[in-house]
Amino acid sequence: TVYPDSELASVAVAQQIANLIRQRAAEHRPCVLGLATGSTPTRLYEELVRLHREEGLSFQNVVTFNLDEYFPMAPGSLQSYVRFMQEYLFEHIDIRPENVHIPDGTLPQEQVAEFCRRYEEQIREAGGVDLQVLGIGRTGHIGFNEPGSGSASRTRLITLDHITRTDAASDFYGEENVPRRAITMGVGTILEAQHIVLLAWGEGKAAVVKRMVEGEMTDSVPATYLQQHPSVQVVLDEAAGAEL
Ligand code: GLP
Repeated sequence: TVYPDSELASVAVAQQIANLIRQRAAEHRPCVLGLATGSTPTRLYEELVRLHREEGLSFQNVVTFNLDEYFPMAPGSLQSYVRFMQEYLFEHIDIRPENVHIPDGTLPQEQVAEFCRRYEEQIREAGGVDLQVLGIGRTGHIGFNEPGSGSASRTRLITLDHITRTDAASDFYGEENVPRRAITMGVGTILEAQHIVLLAWGEGKAAVVKRMVEGEMTDSVPATYLQQHPSVQVVLDEAAGAEL
């Protein structure tokens, strides 16, 4: 779906998520959301906060799993995705803290593989992700699944691409400060979500959006693997959809 602008698109997706949360609550069931960070979903999260404050949307039945986190990363750091999620969403809503899951950037490296295995297990125990929100990186990454990530990849420690580190440089006051690695859900993990909503705004994303939607499925653009998922919605503003 191409919206005239990202504002309208974000509000529409927030409404869709709110409907799902309410529908699950009416059935006395949890609603499991996969969440993304980055500049793309910030307006979506603001709108969810507004729906909570002004329209009584409750997050008591919501369980969340974030896609990724830099490694290493202290949760209080300015660039931490734990902090990002707190500031944009969690501290403003009534979600239960025990229902929030974000990859842990503070672990000693030898514990990361076990953490990733357990993260996948927790997703399964929660009943799987009902709706996964995704952004897309200029390298064609989803989560932090950089080029080379296969469609069967699982939650793991990965090395960030040079382009991704360049794109993150301003957040870290210089590329030399951007961590070289991250923990991310795998492409295979993401593809197990029941429904996926990928958001992209701006002309800077137009080329990678075209490759994702119209290009051949390939490890070198991991987002192309979304083509094999039965229920994906690609939500764009006009600029991001300009090359389709
Ligand atoms: C980071 C995140 C991704 C995100 C991407 C795009 O790499 N790990 O989940 O989709 O950035 O970021 P932005 O939304 O700021 O363009």
